[in-house]
Parts: sequence; C-alpha cells; structure tokens
Amino acid sequence: MALHRLQTPDQTDMLSIRDLIRKKRDGGALSDEEVRAFIQAVTEETIQECQTGAMLMAIWQKGMVVKETETLTREMMKSGEVMSWPEEWAGLVVDKHSTGGVGDKVSLVLAPALAACGCKVPMISGRGLAHTGGTLDKLESIPGFNIHQSTQQIQKILASVGCCIVGQTERLVPADRVLYARRDATSTVDSLPLITGSIISKKGAESLRALVLDVKFGRAALYKDLSSAKELAQSLVSVGNGLGMRTGAVLSCMDGAIGRCVGNSLEVIESLEALKGKGPEDLMELVTTLGGMLLMMTGLASDLSGGRKQISDAVTSGAALSRFQAMMEAQGVARDTAQSLCSAHSDYHRVLRKAAHQTELTAPADGAVLGVDGLVLAEVLHKLGAGRSKVGEPVNHSVGAELLVSQGQMVKKGVPWLRLHHEDPAPTPQQMHQLQNVLTLGSDKNTQTQQKHTLVKELLLPQ
Ligand code: URA
Repeated sequence: MALHRLQTPDQTDMLSIRDLIRKKRDGGALSDEEVRAFIQAVTEETIQECQTGAMLMAIWQKGMVVKETETLTREMMKSGEVMSWPEEWAGLVVDKHSTGGVGDKVSLVLAPALAACGCKVPMISGRGLAHTGGTLDKLESIPGFNIHQSTQQIQKILASVGCCIVGQTERLVPADRVLYARRDATSTVDSLPLITGSIISKKGAESLRALVLDVKFGRAALYKDLSSAKELAQSLVSVGNGLGMRTGAVLSCMDGAIGRCVGNSLEVIESLEALKGKGPEDLMELVTTLGGMLLMMTGLASDLSGGRKQISDAVTSGAALSRFQAMMEAQGVARDTAQSLCSAHSDYHRVLRKAAHQTELTAPADGAVLGVDGLVLAEVLHKLGAGRSKVGEPVNHSVGAELLVSQGQMVKKGVPWLRLHHEDPAPTPQQMHQLQNVLTLGSDKNTQTQQKHTLVKELLLPQ
C-alpha cells in the first residue's frame, strides 16, 4: 500500500495517520517508522482524538506482531523522560510489577528486602481502581508518607536507602497517559499489545537491569484463566527483554486474597508484621519468589533458591524492616511515627486510623474452609469506601477486613471468620449477605485438600 504524505503546518513531511489506521484496520503490520509517527502524533497532540480512538480499535481487533509491540513500547517509553542512574549502580536497578490483586501488599515487603540485598529499587506504583487495591493508597494511610517525588529526589533516596515507592512523575511516558485515557473511553483497555506497551514502557523508562512481573489469574484477577494470563506474561517478558531489561514473570493464582488483611491501613499493618518475621505463608512465598528471581537475574544470587534465601534472610534479620523505616522517613514520615510503626510491639492504631466499627461475621455451619471469594469481598469493601470508581476520588484508608480463618481449617457453626472494619453508614443487609457468601464451606476436609491451589503456578525466565 502506498503511503500518502501530508504536509503539517510546520511543513514537515509526515506519514498520513489515515493511511496508518487503514493499514492496521486491514490487518497489516505497521513498520517502525509508522509506529513512531503514530506515537509522536499522540504525544505532540497533532492527531485528532477520533483518529487515536480508531487506531486503538484497529489494534484491539487486529493485534500486533511481537516486533510491532516492541516498537510501540519503545516509542512510548521514549515519549518522555528516561531515567539515568550513576554508573556504580549498573546491574543493580530492579523493579516488580503486578497485574493487580486483592490484598496484594507484596511491594511493601519486597522493595525494602531487595534494598537490603544490595539492589536499587525505584518502585513506581499505581493507585487502586475498581476492585483491586493500589500500593500508593496503602502507603498514604501512613501519616506524612509522600508518594510524589521528583527524579532527583528518587535518586537521592535510592542513594541513601536503596528503595522508594512513588507515583509516576508527569514527565514519564506522556504517551501512555493520553493513550490510557482514550483506551478507557473506547473500550480498548484489554488488548495484549496495548497492555504490554503501557506496562513495559513505564518500566523501561526506569532504566532497569531486571524486571519481574507478577501476572495473576483467577476469580479476582484481570485474567480469569491461566492460559490468557500466560499469553500476557509471555508478551510482557518478550518485550521487556527486547528493550534490554532482563525480564521474568510469575503466574500466580488470585482466587481469594493474599494474606489475611484487605484494605489500606490493615494491609500496611500486615506488611509491617511480615517485615518483623510474622508474615503469612502465601505473602512470603510471593515475596521470596519474586525477589529471588530478581536477585538471580541481576547475578546477585547464583540461582533461584539462593535468591529466595537471601530475601528471606533480609526479612528475618530485620534488615528489610530497617530499610522500610528509612524509606518512610525519606518520604516524609516523622521519625517518631516511623519508629513507632517499626517497634517490636507497635500499637499500630496509635498511628494508623482505625475504623469506627468492627463487625464479626460467623460461620453458618460446621465445615472445612474451602476458600474465600476475593472478588466479592473486594467489591463490597470498595462500596464501603476502601476503593475508588473514578480517578481522583478519595479512599477511606481505615475500611477493610481481616480473614480470621485459613483455607483447610475446620470451623464450628458460630465461630467468627471475618472481622469487617467499617465506618457509618453500616453495611446494608444485602452487603452483609454478599459478604456471608464470600466464605465457601465444605463438609469434607479431604475435598478441600484436593482443591487447594498452588499459589505460584509457573515461572517464565528471561530467554
Ligand atoms: N496497567 C497499566 O499500567 N496499563 C495497562 O494497560 C494495564 C495495567
């Protein structure tokens, strides 16, 4: 197909956006030059909104080959600032990305543990949207914690602490900000190349040596089935490696919740407990696996089991907790507040606001706990104020829930299984009914044992 060239107002020759849309609409693969022209037009806002929407829909329908996705990602990354680090950090800068889950507090434990192992972790995280929680919202339940840090401040914190957890700066990947809003408006969010471009361009702009992705599947995950989650993981791993980051992925099950707490302040408390060596098994399995992979990919560990052990030792020795305390102070938390949260027998609610009401739900019958429905639990908590439906809405940090039973446990009728933390107005009878149905009880413990999922299903290592 011949490309018609247009004259822009400044007389520069540019590819016709209409031709690019037609080519993609008809199933063609865009060349590097064509992808570059599209992203440049998006970033410089020389493209009409309807044309961006049409191109996104064409990509959603026809997909992209790996090379096109890689070029799209690279061009998105280059649309803004690409961070650079001191030479002596070469090979040490790492990050993790999760596709989002319920009770997912892995970053709060992993970032300081990696810092304690010698890595530099400029963790750029997001806020919660829909039913999934966001790391930034969790951290903002700590009075004073400032997630807004400039690139210079990030570098300063990494030099002294080794890790920070911050929001995306305005200057990083501006093309993603525009494209994401248009994707949202045109129902084109769930496209493999567009998700890959969005996630990996932002990680690429952090100039990482190694990246690990926690791609979740299951009832409470973006992708419900393992095979589509694996397809996403393969795309992310392939494009991440193509951009020069050693990239690996973990496929992990997200049916229930990670750990026992869901909700912003409650998850901070559970993370602090984990950093004090009292973390729930599933949370620590994810932290050590993801961290172990990163240490292996940077060469700081010779294999996965060595990497897992280093992460585990960083937690049990208290080194990771010290990094978390230093990170809080570097990001604006008063020293006595940070010290109080990190002390051995902290009274957490002296610092973190507790909800006005705690209501316990009790088991309706004797039985074995077969599981909890993380999606329904998160949706009810979201309605009670723990989450937001629109970008920019405030969240109520104190709203959440503690699971009081674990999978496989035999419970008696009337025993409390969930402690709900809520404010006024109280949950409606319908919400209480939905919550009661979150718990699945079975009559036979053996049935449960057979059904129990392995949390980490598969690892994808860099090619
Ligand atoms: N997270 C992102 O940053 N972008 C997506 O497209 C999906 C998840």
